Amino acid sequence: MSRIAIVSAMHPELAAVLAGLPQAQKHTVAGREFVLGRWHGHEVVAVLSRIGKVAAATTATVLIERFDVRQVVFTGVAGGVAPVAKVGDVVVASGFMQHDMDASPLFPVYEVPLYGRSHFATDARLTAQLTQAAQAALAQGILDAADLAEMGMPVGRTQVHQGLILSGDRFVSTRAESQRLQQALPEALAVEMEGAAVAQVCHDYGVPFAALRTISDRADDDAHADFLKFVERVASRYSAAILARFFAQQPH
Ligand code: ADE
Repeated sequence: MSRIAIVSAMHPELAAVLAGLPQAQKHTVAGREFVLGRWHGHEVVAVLSRIGKVAAATTATVLIERFDVRQVVFTGVAGGVAPVAKVGDVVVASGFMQHDMDASPLFPVYEVPLYGRSHFATDARLTAQLTQAAQAALAQGILDAADLAEMGMPVGRTQVHQGLILSGDRFVSTRAESQRLQQALPEALAVEMEGAAVAQVCHDYGVPFAALRTISDRADDDAHADFLKFVERVASRYSAAILARFFAQQPH
């Protein structure tokens, strides 16, 4: 039976989805718990990848090899790199690059050696559907006034963006590093630590992939504090609210 995989790096990003799978079967493979059940009318497998590209690649490989997934959706948080990507906004990935891939001078900087490419696109149809779902969820409002005030977010101003997301094995937590990324890769909207790895594994297997990231911090000197607050208080609600709408659009 083919399933839709839902992946996050950390528990607070997926807590509300996992809470909606109370009767689920659990299978442990490669030290990860794969939770199988029905969510919003679809057979799903939900899993926490843990943090970083290798952890994400292992998780994606096990999902595809062992759990018969027909599509993979990643949800979580990211640091905003482009000025437009503000805390509380949602970025739906059109594609991913590894900002820490550099085998130069053997291969061009950022190119994944022997793939002849640095950019891994997400599935266009799923990405369009995820963008619509995020727009609908934000239009309805995911947070209440108290949460918005706590996060320092203006009411009714959150936006959905679609574009390039960078991944690397580094939590970007200085303004200097964030500016370096922006200068080197000006089309990048956000930075996180897993998406490009999942995109590459899904490319290898020909499995459609889509990803959404809520901006938790600005990848600057305050990133650490902003990230922790956002992830604990609100990240899981963004994932559940947007994915519930996305699943409602998926064919059975
Ligand atoms: N995920 C959320 N914020 C991040 C940051 N600043 N750097 C890397 N990954 C992140």
